[in-house]
Amino acid sequence: TEPAALPRDLEGRHVVISAGGTREPLDPVRYLGNRSSGRQGYALARVAAHRGARVTLVSAHTIDLVEPAGVRMVPVGTAEELRVAMLTESDGADAVVMSAAVADFRPVSRDDHKIKKSDHAPAALELAHNPDILAELIAERAAGRLDIRVLAGFAAETGDPDTTVLEYGRSKLARKGCDLLVVNAVGDGRAFEVEDNAGWLLGSGDIERQIPHGAKSLLASRVWDAVGEQFALDGG
Ligand code: CTP
Ligand code: CA
Repeated sequence: TEPAALPRDLEGRHVVISAGGTREPLDPVRYLGNRSSGRQGYALARVAAHRGARVTLVSAHTIDLVEPAGVRMVPVGTAEELRVAMLTESDGADAVVMSAAVADFRPVSRDDHKIKKSDHAPAALELAHNPDILAELIAERAAGRLDIRVLAGFAAETGDPDTTVLEYGRSKLARKGCDLLVVNAVGDGRAFEVEDNAGWLLGSGDIERQIPHGAKSLLASRVWDAVGEQFALDGG
């Protein structure tokens, strides 16, 4: 139903999307992970392909999803693997969208063998910071070592009594320095502010749009619309 109605406005563009959640191993059978389903990243890939783009989908762990047709898949596990894949795949891309849920921390050490319960009682789990991949892509672009036209990030925010989702989104956009930031309002329905029940699309070029929560494909379309506008601002 959908494909025929979509414009082919991304024809000739190469877009790179990260999706899913990274898994940071403790031993060969255990990991630290997160609840990302990967659905949003896959929807971004599917919609971009329908709109004519050449798509590379760098996929960390997802629930069982159908691979989008005509998309190049690059499977990764850890944040470090995702980092290497993004640095490799992104050069020359028209747009890069970081929708993956990247673990902020990883276990400092990884056992080569399964940790047995008869082993000494484990001390507290020691963690190290993972690299901030989006920040690195932005820095590499700024240094002229990576050629990427539009860089977009995602943020999930709950807001709190002092700060709305939109305010958190604005400051994250400023801190990160990406061209677009998709801010998802998350939480359990506690609405401190009406903004908490919706998402926002924030960007340079005066973009500040509220997006109603709805189908992931609808959000994906809004993201590609905004990316297309950035291309136009940037000379087509
Ligand atoms: N991101 C990344 N590398 C990381 C962490 C996050 O590339 N190590 C990317 C995500 O893919 C997302 C954006 O950065 O596009 C924002 O992620 P988020 O977790 O909201 O922001 P953080 O900077 O990690 O801040 P915090 O979790 O403390 O809110
Ligand atoms: Ca984070």
